[in-house]
Amino acid sequence: MGNPIIELRDTAFTAQNKTIVRGINLALNQGQTCALIGPSGGGKSTVLKLAAGLILPTAGEAYFNGQGISTMTRQQTLVFRKEAAFVFQDSALWANQNIRQILELPLKIHFPSISQRERTQRIVEILALVGYKRDLDIRPAALSMGEQKLIAFARALTCDPSLLYLDEWTESLDDTSARRMVRLVKKRQEAGHTIVFVSHNLAVIKELAQRICMIVDGRLALDISGEELANNDNLSRMIEKGIAE
Ligand SMILES: Nc1ncnc2c1ncn2[C@@H]1O[C@H](COP(=O)(O)OP(=O)(O)O)[C@@H](O)[C@H]1O
Ligand SMILES: [Mg+2]
Repeated sequence: MGNPIIELRDTAFTAQNKTIVRGINLALNQGQTCALIGPSGGGKSTVLKLAAGLILPTAGEAYFNGQGISTMTRQQTLVFRKEAAFVFQDSALWANQNIRQILELPLKIHFPSISQRERTQRIVEILALVGYKRDLDIRPAALSMGEQKLIAFARALTCDPSLLYLDEWTESLDDTSARRMVRLVKKRQEAGHTIVFVSHNLAVIKELAQRICMIVDGRLALDISGEELANNDNLSRMIEKGIAE
């Protein structure tokens, strides 16, 4: 099995006197694809951000390759940030930057020595991959939610991360774009990359996830394999209904 690439050990996250998630234990091996499911407000995005080191647990610890994320040196953090890319539920693009600037930033941080020409080439390649066809000189506000998601996806892929965190990533996309993103993720999966995603889309979950974790009221309520989901019609129906209960 080897050591987990990502591990949450008894983690909790409290903000504004509210415990949002607690007692979360989750270990993912390199190359695993894990879907986080559950009702809205249950804590899926919080668990995803803890696993990505974007927020630090208020109890317990999150680990990347055995290293506690909260105790990383600046250099270790930089390596982790290059390897681990995140697509936010709301895309979270810089409002005052144009698309070119948004996509250049990770390359400037993680590949400071490459030329402007190489950066442009990489950006054009990535945009073709995600199927974005509009201008590079416009700002996010001029884009639809779906187009913003494509840019968020493109930004996440610019530095060729080995770990991908995707939060409700097909939700605002049209069917063609959603299919294209699923294919892109599948390719990365086949290349041995590690993927953690939040989704309410049963077909996407069944197609990609080897492991499914359900977060309810801030707790890990269920942790099953893709095969177990395939054989569990009740759970499939719950996911299709948005696990509203
Ligand atoms: N930093 C925060 N401060 C206060 N409340 C938060 C914070 N982050 C999340 N929450 C709240 O915690 C709950 C779970 O949030 P979230 O992880 O986004 O759930 P999900 O992604 O499953 O919908 C929500 O009610 C949300 O408003
Ligand atoms: Mg969420």
